[in-house]
Amino acid sequence: MKAILCTKYGSPDVLEIHDIEKPTPKDDEVLVKVHASSVNPAEWYSMTGLFLARIGNGLIKPKDTRLGVDYAGIVEAVGKDVAQFRPGDEVFGARSGAFAEYLCVKNHIYPKPTNITFEQAGSAAVAAVTALQGLRDHGKLQAGQEVLINGASGGVGTFAVQIAKALGAEVTAVCSTRNVDMIRSLGADHVIDYTKQDFTSTGKRYDILLDIAGSRPWRECKRVLNPNAHYVIVGAPKGNRVIGPLGFIIKTRLASLGASQKMIFFVASFKREDFLLLSDMFERGQVKPIVEKIYPLHRISDAMRHLGTGHAQAKIVITMES
Ligand SMILES: NC(=O)c1ccc[n+]([C@@H]2O[C@H](COP(=O)([O-])OP(=O)(O)OC[C@H]3O[C@@H](n4cnc5c(N)ncnc54)[C@H](OP(=O)(O)O)[C@@H]3O)[C@@H](O)[C@H]2O)c1
Repeated sequence: MKAILCTKYGSPDVLEIHDIEKPTPKDDEVLVKVHASSVNPAEWYSMTGLFLARIGNGLIKPKDTRLGVDYAGIVEAVGKDVAQFRPGDEVFGARSGAFAEYLCVKNHIYPKPTNITFEQAGSAAVAAVTALQGLRDHGKLQAGQEVLINGASGGVGTFAVQIAKALGAEVTAVCSTRNVDMIRSLGADHVIDYTKQDFTSTGKRYDILLDIAGSRPWRECKRVLNPNAHYVIVGAPKGNRVIGPLGFIIKTRLASLGASQKMIFFVASFKREDFLLLSDMFERGQVKPIVEKIYPLHRISDAMRHLGTGHAQAKIVITMES
């Protein structure tokens, strides 16, 4: 089968398509023929070899050469202990090594919502779970609260706007001019175009700031926070090659010490109940994965370059069809 391998750290040019052995499912695994996956900034850091990522995956070259996490596809075979899925089932979920034609999955595999495409379902796992956990678990979002989402037009942001609305928030979204209409169409109550207006100087205050872009320092963000607000950092600028976005997070943590507002940084984790909730939101049409562009697997380097600009619009999808 074809799969993307990253055998050395570097620019998107290091990614290569290889023929490798098709996996065989163990008794408790499902073999999925992958139709779609998507690129996330985490893969960017794995590929470029941020020093922190190298500690876990090899200082000189990657030990785990496979990339990709989000997937959607069709069950091709099941191990003898699997009762929940059958060949032909349409599924989606998360599994490392997803930039490949086949995957053996044990844990995060769920029925694909029938009203979304493989490309949409294959774009969802990392970004949608992150948005949900950032708002609900770390932001402690309650219906009726005022939420500000900075970085609303990317992968996490387009899910966050819709999830915040589904959870009953009044949503203000920050994005650039070309994304204003798209973000409004996702249900944002107010949109701030950051090229024209400074979101930290509007005089308005919020209960939650979901900061996906990390474009402004704490002393400025603080101006828009209610005294008991939650300031949830999801992401930050790429930073230097040693600690990357962690520099922004450490600086913000130190600067926010003693403040009445709660500053939180978190790393999303996959939970079955969150996938089931998101599936339900997709099925009900409350949340729709937005796909900007689809690249075939052999153009993975172009997809990564696109992501690496930092100005992706919604999700960038990879399909296994050539
Ligand atoms: N904590 C976690 O578990 C977790 C999980 C997933 C992702 N992340 C992090 O979250 C961040 C976003 O991920 P993503 O998948 O959404 O990335 P993405 O799809 O590449 O989106 C980037 C978005 O940021 C926007 N942006 C760039 N500069 C901005 C600015 N100054 N102000 C407001 N928006 C700006 C861009 O919009 P414009 O083109 O309009 O500028 C673009 O739409 C990354 O740092 C990633 O590492 C963290």
